[in-house]
Amino acid sequence: MHSLKVELGERSYPIYIGEGLFSPEYLTPHIHGRQVCVVTNETVAPLYLQTLLEALSGGGYTLETVVLPDGEKHKNLETLNLVFDGLLQARFNRQCTLIALGGGVIGDMAGFAAACYQRGVKFIQIPTTLLSMVDSSVGGKTGVNHPLGKNMIGAFYQPQAVLADVSVLKSLPVRELAAGVAEVIKYGLICDASFFVWLEENIARVMAGDTDALAYCVVRSCEDKAKVVAEDEREGGVRAILNLGHTFGHAIETAQGYGNWLHGEAVAAGMMMAVDLSQRMGNVPADLVERTRSLLLAARLPTIAPADMSNDDFLTLMAVDKKAMDGGLRLVLLEALGKAVVTADFDAQLLEQTLTQSRIA
Ligand code: NAD
Ligand code: GLY
Repeated sequence: MHSLKVELGERSYPIYIGEGLFSPEYLTPHIHGRQVCVVTNETVAPLYLQTLLEALSGGGYTLETVVLPDGEKHKNLETLNLVFDGLLQARFNRQCTLIALGGGVIGDMAGFAAACYQRGVKFIQIPTTLLSMVDSSVGGKTGVNHPLGKNMIGAFYQPQAVLADVSVLKSLPVRELAAGVAEVIKYGLICDASFFVWLEENIARVMAGDTDALAYCVVRSCEDKAKVVAEDEREGGVRAILNLGHTFGHAIETAQGYGNWLHGEAVAAGMMMAVDLSQRMGNVPADLVERTRSLLLAARLPTIAPADMSNDDFLTLMAVDKKAMDGGLRLVLLEALGKAVVTADFDAQLLEQTLTQSRIA
């Protein structure tokens, strides 16, 4: 078992990474009060809910479960309300603890429910997808989608602990594993050049589901993310580099309908576009574009944007992105492998070229 800490003063919390983490040893110290509500979904519940409830059963808690419908298309206020219904029907008080058991959709929704319920109750993240282990469960971004924009309703709200039990990844479909690998590759590109090289050398092990390789990916990604979050919890500056490829990717997700392209798939195509634009601006060599493409393809990820999206579709949807709301469009671009910047200083014509190229190769 590996543990690390997200250093945020009084809001600091541990991330445990390993196997056998569904146990009182890791859960009990982070539970506040006597009422515990597990928020999960209809896919994850049959796989892991019983094991979690058994681990909690000796603690003398009042246990409640809310099982939500599965999918990004349900990440909305209407579904969120089902959590509040469950908590209120069970008469849960302000001293309760919520546990998010699932991927990023469940983590984001349960975290947002915890931020809102009775103006804030404690919660624990138990991420069950690679993407949620390496990204969404860490850093306190919680929320839901709005028909006009992804993740537009939400709050910064940190968990008490993150329990990333990599053994649950064995049941994850390979397409979902790949979506998580997109975010793993992101860390290499934005802040960890030697990890990028490690990934180039070990991508076959990762994609084959090798537990040690996956655990290494989770540890390294969480270390990278924890550093960035500790520096800039509320995304006033450097944290925005974690969104490499996301402005393009969110446009793809919104245009294609939530859930049709997985978040990680959209981020993969979006990162390709960000690296392409960085290269057109003369910041990175052409071979990094090819290395990124090869790595994404080896991870069975898309590198080409949807053929039915025009440059104007992209520009319109990208303008809704949170980073653009306070003015012009800002993008995360690379200055080198392992070094990202957030900038509004890019050539609009080069962006047009990148958008046009993105649907070709
Ligand atoms: P997801 O939560 O939809 O999970 C993917 C699928 O895998 C779902 O069908 C789920 O039920 C299933 N699943 C989960 N664990 C499983 C397991 N162990 N075995 C079998 N099936 C399993 O998707 P995701 O990729 O985990 O997360 C994507 C979401 O995360 C998006 O909504 C995105 O916006 C959000 N996100 C948030 C942050 C953040 O900082 N808060 C960062 C990145 C992404
Ligand atoms: N996934 C981006 C962030 O947490 O800031």
